[in-house]
Amino acid sequence: MASLDLDVLVRVVVIVVVTTAVVVDSSGLPLPGYDGLAVGFYKEKCPQAEDLVLAEMREIVHEDRTLAPALLRFMFHDCFVRGCDASIMLISRNGTGERDALPSYSLRGYEQIEKIKAKLEEECPMTVSCADIIVMAARDAVFLSKGPRYDVETGRRDGKASFQCDADNDLPPPKSNIVDLKIYLSVKDLGWKDLVVLSGSHTIGMAQCGTFADDRLYNYSGKGMQDPSLNKMYAPELRKACEAGDPNDPTPVEMDPGSPYTFDLSYYRAVYNNKGLFLSDQALLDDKRTRDYVARMAAAESPDEYFTDYAEAMKNMGRLEVLTGENGEIRRVCSAYVD
Ligand code: HEM
Repeated sequence: MASLDLDVLVRVVVIVVVTTAVVVDSSGLPLPGYDGLAVGFYKEKCPQAEDLVLAEMREIVHEDRTLAPALLRFMFHDCFVRGCDASIMLISRNGTGERDALPSYSLRGYEQIEKIKAKLEEECPMTVSCADIIVMAARDAVFLSKGPRYDVETGRRDGKASFQCDADNDLPPPKSNIVDLKIYLSVKDLGWKDLVVLSGSHTIGMAQCGTFADDRLYNYSGKGMQDPSLNKMYAPELRKACEAGDPNDPTPVEMDPGSPYTFDLSYYRAVYNNKGLFLSDQALLDDKRTRDYVARMAAAESPDEYFTDYAEAMKNMGRLEVLTGENGEIRRVCSAYVD
């Protein structure tokens, strides 16, 4: 038994050494960090790529600040469905692509990603992938909302397929409980910490009444009542905004009441006080580890720890099922037809 354990240990050590050897940089050039991804992947081929994305994002958000949260959400919807491969951009003439799925129905940002891509095509033709643009735009959306500006790995290539059913299956719905949420994430090799940290993205942006009013206000668990866990002072405000009985009510409500355009810790304070908008936000209080994290961030004086955790969790999400090297393609236009 002892020799078997030793054998396993030796193999683990060999794997760690080999994996580490791949990322050690001796030439000064970025080397593949994970499946061919690297920070600074475009340093040689298009050194201005990251600056150009930021400049475009500044203009986009200056014109319409609601596009910062929209473009952050965009990365989630791309990466969780067939990986970060820009498959969300593809158009199905038959109406069977990711864009056509129910969870994507209010997703915005398609034209903005295309606009950034057009700019990059002018400067560095056929070089920067749409998948990387989505990840860089999300990073800048956070930064332009007063959040952290973290390094992003790049080197993704674009996928050629897009299926509605993948989006329907892989994106957790807002009525998810904590068990469902952990399963949705574990399928993507993401853990409880990624869940609680990434959910903090709801510190910016709006949600339509139709996405939560039934579950939280009018028909909790199909019982025709308000969710008993929802903050009793906050519920009347939400009832004023959202009428009963309209599952498609598009009225927008702030997800982080009072600070919907600042990337800060107030989402955690809201969730801690039972003012999370979705059941999936509230559910973070139903697991000891996620609850403890929410409580710690709600009480934190500085966002530093959260910002560090966020960069790490976004890196993890940005690595999902990436196409690199010879896989996938670089397209001139992101929103190509798939059928
Ligand atoms: C954990 C499971 C998650 C669920 C159930 C969920 C669900 C939702 C729903 C239902 C909306 C409202 C859409 C609308 O009414 O238009 C929304 C908005 C949003 N989500 Fe999530 N989300 C989750 C995770 C994430 C992640 C991982 C991110 C980013 C990394 C994210 C970023 C956002 C942002 C920024 C918005 C606001 C969009 C806007 O204002 O246009 N969400 N989410």
